[in-house]
Amino acid sequence: MTAVRREESTSSMDTLQQLIALDRQHVWHPYAAMPNPLPVFPVRAAQGVRLELEDGRSLIDGISSWWTCIHGYNHPQLNQAAHTQMERMSHVMFGGLTHRPAVDLATKLIDITPADLQQVFFCDSGSVSVEVAMKLAVQYWHNRGKPNKTKFLTIRNGYHGDTFAAMSACDPVNGMHHLFSGLLQQQYFADAPQVKFGEAWQDDDIASCANLLEQHHDQIAAAIFEPVVQNAGGVRFYHPEYVHRASQLCKEYDVLLILDEIATGFGRSGKLFACEYAEICPDIMCVGKALSGGFMSLAATLTTTHISETFASGEAGVFMHGPTFMGNPLACAVSLANLKLLESYDWQTKIAQIEAQLTQELAPCRTLAAVRDVRVLGAIAAVELHHPVDMAIVQPSFVEKGVWLRPFGRLLYTMPPYIIQPEELSMITAAIYAVATEISASTIQG
Ligand SMILES: Cc1ncc(COP(=O)(O)O)c(C=O)c1O
Repeated sequence: MTAVRREESTSSMDTLQQLIALDRQHVWHPYAAMPNPLPVFPVRAAQGVRLELEDGRSLIDGISSWWTCIHGYNHPQLNQAAHTQMERMSHVMFGGLTHRPAVDLATKLIDITPADLQQVFFCDSGSVSVEVAMKLAVQYWHNRGKPNKTKFLTIRNGYHGDTFAAMSACDPVNGMHHLFSGLLQQQYFADAPQVKFGEAWQDDDIASCANLLEQHHDQIAAAIFEPVVQNAGGVRFYHPEYVHRASQLCKEYDVLLILDEIATGFGRSGKLFACEYAEICPDIMCVGKALSGGFMSLAATLTTTHISETFASGEAGVFMHGPTFMGNPLACAVSLANLKLLESYDWQTKIAQIEAQLTQELAPCRTLAAVRDVRVLGAIAAVELHHPVDMAIVQPSFVEKGVWLRPFGRLLYTMPPYIIQPEELSMITAAIYAVATEISASTIQG
């Protein structure tokens, strides 16, 4: 190495150390402790299914940047859509103005979601789309002369976001409701569904939900569920009949049904939307995450004409919500390109192949001492352990094995990009098996 090259490389290492130090001192990461957060891994670029770290290592991303990046990073069609739109306008306000990217994306969403969903409210993030859904439900009942219907029914183990209304519908234990007890509205929590996806349906699974609706429907504006897959609440796959029955009960008791498809939407569970397993249409649906292919933050709340047409005649005369960056043209243009991309290939077969490979390659984990359960649905797989993982050990261990996974609680899980190749997916399953083996060995020793 020449003296100049050596100096360059030393100074870039200095810069990297500085970056890490500054990050550690000033930048708050998701669910991180301050002042001593766990180490983070600086990324300098991303391409296809790979993240390139600043130190030169390359990792296969097994969780699609929190379930968003379904077509991989730096996709030429998404980049092109962003470039084209950027040259026209990257943003204009949405109050009093409209634009083609928003109208085209709204039309596309209406085309691909269940038929009764006809109006689209664009939001900045999944949590905000849940806030909007909950506000829509409350204001709808106000419009209909039932202002007492302001509560929500949900199921335990759910996750709907980190803002306050969304958080009030998250599992009370995982969501640490006691910390925010003065601020969070008390909702009605039905028992989490016990009949798993693929098992024989049992009528008593819906009993707790039915009882709460029977007793409290006068106060309940809407039920809110993640259909079929409870993701952040434990990667649990439950019987679609639960959603079907809940939908019938909601109709019977005059309660709206909000389905949160933020994690499940756009093919992840094997159907374009998980509510298709239950063959129902909700009154309100939230989508986000994979909507933009992970390119940037965008979400949407969809609703029916039956609901939207009550707003003009309600007390407020309008829906009381309108974020500054609503309907951002860049995000809409990229999301439209992403949905067109999804339509352009046989994603169902691709997801079925991922599901089959995950099922086969993760099955050996069942024999490990630390493993409690292994489950797979669509392009989602979880290896549940008996005890919570130690992230300080497990995270670097995955990185050493060349994959990026982000376990939580007792779960080692993967939700890979749909474009992943079989040999790349095998690297992920091998890493999960190896880490579960390491944990088993340490459990046995301990
Ligand atoms: C089902 C569900 N709803 C809502 C959210 C919140 O979305 P965001 O993080 O974009 O606010 C998430 C995020 O994981 C989710 O999984």
